[in-house]
Amino acid sequence: MTHPGTPRDQQPTTGEQAPTGGHQTADPYTRAAARAAEDPEGFWLEAAGLIDWTTPPTRALDDSRAPIYRWFPDGELNVCYNALDRHVIAGRGDDAALVYDSPVTDTVRTYTYAELTELTARFARVLADRGVGKGDRVIIYMPMIPEAVISMLACARLGAVHSVVFGGFSAHELAVRIDDTAPKAVISTSCGIERSRVIEYKPLLDRALELAEARPEFTVIVQRPQHPCTLVEGRDLDYAELMDATPEGAPCTPVKATDELYVLYTSGTTGRPKGIVRDSGGYATALAWSLPNLFDLHPGDTMFTASDVGWVVGHSYIVYAPLIGGVTTVLFEGKPIGTPDASTFFRVVSEHRANVFFAAPTAMRVIRKEDPEGAFMQQYDLSSVRGWFLAGERLDPDTYAWTTEKLAAATGRDIPVIDNWWQTETGWPIATNPIGLHRFPLKAGSPTKPVPGYQVEIVDAGGEPVPAGQDGLVVIRLPLPPGTMATVWGDDERFVSSYLSAFEGYYLTGDGGYLDEDGYVYVMGRTDDVINVAGHRLSTGTMEAAIAAHPAVAECAVIGVHDETKGQVPRAFVVLADGADTDAEALAGELVTLVRSEVGPVAALKRVDIVPALPKTRSGKILRKTMREIADHRSDVVVPSTIEDPEVLERMRGALEG
Ligand code: COA
Ligand code: AMP
Repeated sequence: MTHPGTPRDQQPTTGEQAPTGGHQTADPYTRAAARAAEDPEGFWLEAAGLIDWTTPPTRALDDSRAPIYRWFPDGELNVCYNALDRHVIAGRGDDAALVYDSPVTDTVRTYTYAELTELTARFARVLADRGVGKGDRVIIYMPMIPEAVISMLACARLGAVHSVVFGGFSAHELAVRIDDTAPKAVISTSCGIERSRVIEYKPLLDRALELAEARPEFTVIVQRPQHPCTLVEGRDLDYAELMDATPEGAPCTPVKATDELYVLYTSGTTGRPKGIVRDSGGYATALAWSLPNLFDLHPGDTMFTASDVGWVVGHSYIVYAPLIGGVTTVLFEGKPIGTPDASTFFRVVSEHRANVFFAAPTAMRVIRKEDPEGAFMQQYDLSSVRGWFLAGERLDPDTYAWTTEKLAAATGRDIPVIDNWWQTETGWPIATNPIGLHRFPLKAGSPTKPVPGYQVEIVDAGGEPVPAGQDGLVVIRLPLPPGTMATVWGDDERFVSSYLSAFEGYYLTGDGGYLDEDGYVYVMGRTDDVINVAGHRLSTGTMEAAIAAHPAVAECAVIGVHDETKGQVPRAFVVLADGADTDAEALAGELVTLVRSEVGPVAALKRVDIVPALPKTRSGKILRKTMREIADHRSDVVVPSTIEDPEVLERMRGALEG
C-alpha cells in the first residue's frame, strides 16, 4: 500500500500481491488487472487502505441495486481531511500543497498544507455559519484562482455537494445548473482573465440568477483587483471580509462513502446537460490508487495539470488526487499560448520542478503551431519530468510523434508521452500506460491498456463481441470500478437509460474504437452527437436548441467537423422558416452571437450555412453522420439507403466540402 508521507523508494503498491489464478509470474500491471477482475472486493478493499476513514469499510461492493452499484457501503470518511488535514497531522504542514502560477496576473504563490488547511477550514466555517451543511449544494463559478480550490475543499469539509461550472459557459447554462441542483449558495468572483482580456463574471452571475427559478440564499464573491464589481445588498457577500471576520475554522464532517462529493455537468446527446454524481469514498480510493500506479507520483512530488477546475481533469488531477496523495499541485491561470507565449508550460514545469505534466493534445498542437521546432522546450530545464500525459480528446499520432521527438531533443531522455482515455463519467482514466505499475511500449494513436478495474470490450450494434482490430462500440463490463459515476443527479432512470441499458451488464461509453491483438485500446471518436472542441466536450444538441429558437429558423443541424488545431469545430446548417425574409450573412452573424450568448464563447461556433433543406432518412432523422463524413472529406462516405431524397444531399455537398 502507498502511504502518504512514506518516502517513494519504500512504497509497495497495492495490486502487486499474488493474485488468484496463474498470474504470479506476470508483470505488476497484469497481476493487478487480473486481481481487480477476479477479486474486486479484495482488490478495492485493500486500495481503500490508502484513505483515512472515520469508519473503515468492511465491504467493497454493494450490488443490491444492480445495475447501479455502490462502493464501500458501510465506510465513512471526510474527503477534505484526506486531502489536507492528514498531511498536516503527519508532520508535512510546511510542505507545498498548491502553487498558484498566474502569468495573466504576474503572480506566483505557494500555499503549504498547513496554510491551505487553515484557509479551507475558515471558509468552511463561513459557509457553515450561513447554514450550509451536509448534503446542501453549492455552485462554484470561478476561474483558476486558489479560492476556487478552497471553495471546493470547504464544501467537501462540510459534506456539502459542490458543482463547479466552467467559466466559458454562458449565463443561461449557469442558470440551467442552478435550477437542476437548487444550491444554497453560489461562490463566484468579480472577473476572470482570458489572455489579456478581463471577463466580467458578475454580470453573468446576476443574469443567471435572474433566469433561474431556484433561489440560492446567498452568494460569496471574490473581488479581484483587476476588476472589482458591485455587490447586491443582502445577497452578495465579500469573500475577503467574511474570511477576515472568521478566525476559527470548521471541523471535518464525516460522510458516508456513498454520499455525494460533487455534481459535474457534462454534455449529452440532448440539449439538457447531465449532472454526473461522484461519491466520496470510492472516488477518494480510486484517485489515491491512481496516483502512484498510473502516474508514478508519490508524496513530495509535483503535478502540473494544465486543465481547468471546471472540467473533470481539473477536479481529479488539479484538486483531489494530488492533494489526497500528498503531492504538490500547480494551479495555472493561463493558456498554452499568449500568456505570454508558447514557452509558458515549459517555464512552469521547470520553475516548479513538475514530475508529471498533464494537458489536452490541442494544447500541444497550438504550441507546435507557434514553435514548430520546439525551441522553447530547449530553453527550460525539464529534467524533473517523468511523464507527459495528454487527455480530453484523441491524441493523434502526428502530435504524439512531434511531442515525443521534441521532448527527447530538449532533454536527451525518452520521456513517455502518454495518451489517457477517460470521461467526466468515469472520473479517472479508463485506459493509459500505467507507468507506476509497468511501462508498456507506446503505440501511436492508442491510450495503451485498460486500467485495472475496467474491463473494456468492443461490441457491434447488436451487442456481439467483435474480433481484435475491428471497429465497434466501446463498452465496459459492470460493475465499473470505484470513483466512476454514481448516477445522474436526481435521476437514476436517466443514468440507467443513457448508460446501462443498451447492453445488459455493460456501461456504454458513447465512444467507438477497437482493441488490437496485444490488448491495446484505440478510441477513435464519439458515436453520438457529442463533439470535442479544443479538449472541451460540447453537445451539438445544445447549440441546435439555441439556433432553433431564432424566429427565422425552420430547422437546423450542428455537426462537429475536423479542425487542425482544435480537433473539431462546430458548423451549423440552417433552413429558413417559410416567409423569412432575411439577409443570409446577417442571419449567420446573429446565430453565431446567439450561440455565444446562450451556450457560451467556448462553443466556438464560427460558421453557419443557410441551405434549402437538410438531408434526412425516410423516417425523418437528419443524416448528421453522413454530413460530417462529407465535411471531413472522407473517402469512404456511405450514404444510407434509407435516405429520403438524395438530391438534397447533393445540393448541400458544395457547402459541406467548402
Ligand atoms: N472563461 C471565459 N471565456 C473562456 C474561457 C473561460 N474559462 N475559456 C475559453 N473562453 C473563451 C475564449 O476566450 C474564446 O473566446 P473568443 O471567441 O472571444 O476568443 C472562446 O471561449 C473559445 O475558447 P477556446 O476554444 O479555448 O479557444 P482559444 O483560441 O481561446 O484557445 C486553446 C485554444 C487550445 C489554447 C484552449 O482551448 C485550450 O487551452 N484548450 C485545452 C482545454 C483543456 O484543458 N481541456 C481539459 C481537458 S484536459
Ligand atoms: P470529457 O467527459 O469532457 O472528459 O470528454 C470525454 C470524451 O472525450 C470521451 O468520451 C472521448 O470521446 C473523448 N476523449 C477523452 N480522452 C480521450 C482520449 N485519450 N482518446 C480519445 N478520446 C478521448
